[in-house]
Amino acid sequence: ARVRRYKWDVKYEFKSPDCYKKLVITINGRSPGPSILAQQGDTVVVEVTNGLVTENLAIHWHVIRQIGSPWSDGIEGVTQYPILPGDTFTYRFVIDRPGTYLYHAHYRMQRDAGLYGSIRVSLPDGVAEPFAYDYDKSIVLNDWYHKSTDEQAVGLSSIPFVWVEEPQSLLIQGKGKFKCSKLASPTLDPAACNATNPECSPYILTVIPGKTYRLRISSVTALSALSFQIEGHKMTIVEADGHYVEPIEAQHLFIYSGETYSVLIKIDQEPSRYYWITTNVVGRNDAATTPPGLAVLNYYPNHPKWVPPTDPPAGPIWNDVAPRLAQSLAIKARQGYVRTPPHKSDKVIVFLNTQNKINGYFRWSVNNVSFTLPHTPYLIALKDNLHHVFDQRPPPDSLQDFTNYDIYRVANNTNATSSNAIYRLKFNATVDIILQNANTMTVNNSETHPWHLHGHNFWVLGYGMGKFEANNDPKKYNLANPIMKNTVPVHPYGWTALRFVADNPGVWLFHRHIESHLYMGMAVVFEEGINRVGKLPMEIMGCGETKGFKRP
Ligand code: C2O
Repeated sequence: ARVRRYKWDVKYEFKSPDCYKKLVITINGRSPGPSILAQQGDTVVVEVTNGLVTENLAIHWHVIRQIGSPWSDGIEGVTQYPILPGDTFTYRFVIDRPGTYLYHAHYRMQRDAGLYGSIRVSLPDGVAEPFAYDYDKSIVLNDWYHKSTDEQAVGLSSIPFVWVEEPQSLLIQGKGKFKCSKLASPTLDPAACNATNPECSPYILTVIPGKTYRLRISSVTALSALSFQIEGHKMTIVEADGHYVEPIEAQHLFIYSGETYSVLIKIDQEPSRYYWITTNVVGRNDAATTPPGLAVLNYYPNHPKWVPPTDPPAGPIWNDVAPRLAQSLAIKARQGYVRTPPHKSDKVIVFLNTQNKINGYFRWSVNNVSFTLPHTPYLIALKDNLHHVFDQRPPPDSLQDFTNYDIYRVANNTNATSSNAIYRLKFNATVDIILQNANTMTVNNSETHPWHLHGHNFWVLGYGMGKFEANNDPKKYNLANPIMKNTVPVHPYGWTALRFVADNPGVWLFHRHIESHLYMGMAVVFEEGINRVGKLPMEIMGCGETKGFKRP
């Protein structure tokens, strides 16, 4: 195994990823940041310098389990104090599995500002993948806002509430195209939105006829659920969140924020032309306000050029849940790579997801508890037995009156509260989580939301529509060949059941992978095996004078 060293300078720079100029967080001048390429078993060392001047920083290695290094998970308030402006922090961790992963900022809503990138982990020497391909490419999808993340965050925590609204564009590998003519302001600086700026020329994937490509598609969207397609080409899904999938053919790949997939495509169409690569918003009723993200598949040796001769193919019907649920249900562990889950669980937790108003503020809650971060990161508080820094009473394992709760109605949930309490799991216990979706505070509205667990992979035991029935639904769980994932959708008015083993000493966030919803309290924290966590590195405490830094 090797050590892969990276030195990253993080700062704000003016960029025009979708032709509109705004301040973007870059790593060494780039957004998306540099890709991390490693082999299973390698150690990755990333020295991060926070050059944001007025903002703190923390970076999360999405899906790296941080076995033996829980302090490198990069969650401000959970596993470390933030990296202060001007400071340098070193993340050091072992890559424990092969697959397609991501990294992104995990401080306030900074992921939205452009700090993200891909991690691609190859198998150890001599070990082969269960499928063949000639070339391997990573494509990160994102949605893009023109407002600063700070302005968005302030709006979300204001009375009256200011919603972030729909994104202005969708980015494919960091490139999008906003129609500058939509900015009707005459006083506008002409350089502020320029359709001919090379920074927003589309992503062009040039491919060689006759070859097979593995495309690693991932999503870091702030809000949007997406579909992804390549005109004229069928995709075969072979990997999800770093686990091999029993191959499935797809015209559209549905992908939620925090998910990663690998698809294989054959370059077998008419070679003289160009094909669209498109991504569309699905699942939200304002989908039409965000135009599709566009990129080009170009057959070598054609000169890469914009644009294909046809109109971009239409996306799937935005509010048709059936094909999205069907994809969720179709994804199974690949034969020969099945790891069966423990047959029984030791603990079942039902998480009812609701939108609430608490003291006049709009919040998201789990079992009527809306999550807030403590001033001292949990990992430090638990290790040092600082009992006063967060609420020691455990949060509820289910809503007291869950059986009578009507998931199809707008509920008042007047007893919802904010809390920084956490779930303390017995080390090595097998835990089932049921995520239950419900109506939001808007009549007849429930949306698909992705949930992401840090520090673990979990088995996806099942999805269902309607309210989870503890007496019946577990009988339908797939215990034979469930896929392991770490990010999973919960469909409108539906439930999703997961199982994991609490065998990774540390403190782990479990949250909705939507920036605004996490900011509004849609998260819980699990602790397991804290007494097995090694000595905490000084660096996570903030160094020198900043030790004991308190969040303002
Ligand atoms: Cu990619 Cu806590 O998330």
